[in-house]
Amino acid sequence: VRVLIAGADGYLGWSLLLHLAARGHVVAGFDNLSRRARVREMGSDSATPIASWAARLPLAEARGIEFLLADAAGSPDLIAATVRDFKPDAVVQFAEIPSAPYSMIPGREWEVQQNNLASTWSIMNAIRKHAPDCHLVKLGTMGEYGTPNLPIPEGYAEMLVVNRRVGSVDWSQTDTVPFPRQPGSFYHASKVHGTINLALAAKTWGLACTDIQQGVVFGCETADMTHPDLLTRLDFDEYFGTAINRFCCQAVIGHPITVYGKGGQTRGFLPLADSMQCIQLILENPAGAGEHRVINQIESTYSVRELAHIVRREALNLGMPARVSHIDNPRDEAEEHFYQVEAEKLRVMGYVPSTGVGAEVRRMLITLAKYKDRIEKFRHVLVPQQHWSGEKIPCATT
Ligand SMILES: NC(=O)c1ccc[n+]([C@@H]2O[C@H](COP(=O)([O-])OP(=O)(O)OC[C@H]3O[C@@H](n4cnc5c(N)ncnc54)[C@H](O)[C@@H]3O)[C@@H](O)[C@H]2O)c1
Repeated sequence: VRVLIAGADGYLGWSLLLHLAARGHVVAGFDNLSRRARVREMGSDSATPIASWAARLPLAEARGIEFLLADAAGSPDLIAATVRDFKPDAVVQFAEIPSAPYSMIPGREWEVQQNNLASTWSIMNAIRKHAPDCHLVKLGTMGEYGTPNLPIPEGYAEMLVVNRRVGSVDWSQTDTVPFPRQPGSFYHASKVHGTINLALAAKTWGLACTDIQQGVVFGCETADMTHPDLLTRLDFDEYFGTAINRFCCQAVIGHPITVYGKGGQTRGFLPLADSMQCIQLILENPAGAGEHRVINQIESTYSVRELAHIVRREALNLGMPARVSHIDNPRDEAEEHFYQVEAEKLRVMGYVPSTGVGAEVRRMLITLAKYKDRIEKFRHVLVPQQHWSGEKIPCATT
């Protein structure tokens, strides 16, 4: 498959470039390097010492990968020309700002929505114009659904409206409709807007679209990262660090593993290697023309409290003095709730989870211990300050 990866310098993008190139696919990627800049602006850096953009260029070239600098949101003409010239069979759209807390900083809400909507928009337009048969694979998030008191299907569901009186008639009727999206941050809302635009592009332009509702990814390397120069980034600050990755960085430097509130928040998770396996399967089994195919991409669900204790257990086994502490929750979210997710489509395509969460966490702790000094330097970013209300005050231990 000829695959163009948007957001190819990021955590998942760089990993996917290496993964697909190593498996015989023809790959190109572009990025505007904004993730590097935003993490630095937030006062942090990747725990893994990733190669600079300039150093990544020859690494990519040696693997036959074209690697370009381009801003998908700001340069739609350049994106259109890239799609026209590369003639992809598929585009994987990672090029968005992927942070709920960042999107709740007063003044940044629109920046996130504008970037994320404009970026996907210019890719959709480029495909429509220059590669109408191309498969668009867009990364959404399981967070689009929120935490309903219902099992979460893969995108669409039968809805039964019972005994609603309309005029003089009582109706009980079913239809297949998009399952309700209940975003909990302006970032998640940008992803919901993306889903709506994708569904419309499929319906009205006939584009073949896969909308991945991905769980939280964890892990710092894949089998393709055979040298430290090939490592992907791993962030641990309150804005760009996700749960397990952040917990592991805390454990490595002896910082308490900080659970927000009660920690009963339950989410879908999957290891980095599994995210790569799933996206490869999706590329090899494309959506049909005019189809808006929604796929829930998770390995399993866990509560944040459970995960914190798994990280603690694995760290203690490795001789790291780890402990779990609960702090004020800066987010506006349910801390104990029902959570059941349907995730069958990838299993049917052949997805087999590669590892258990404990084994992956252990591997992460061993790798991250090599970069202890880098994490220690940014210890101050490990406790969140940004509340959903817009206030910025350090969260206290509860
Ligand atoms: N990592 C996760 O746990 C996770 C979970 C669910 C969904 N996702 C989604 O997957 C995608 C990739 O996530 P990630 O963790 O690799 O994030 P990332 O920030 O590391 O990667 C995104 C990349 O896109 C680039 N980018 C952003 N806006 C751009 C633009 N306008 N033009 C060109 N490049 C641009 C950034 O510089 C960055 O390198 C995101 O859309 C994210 O919302 C990630």
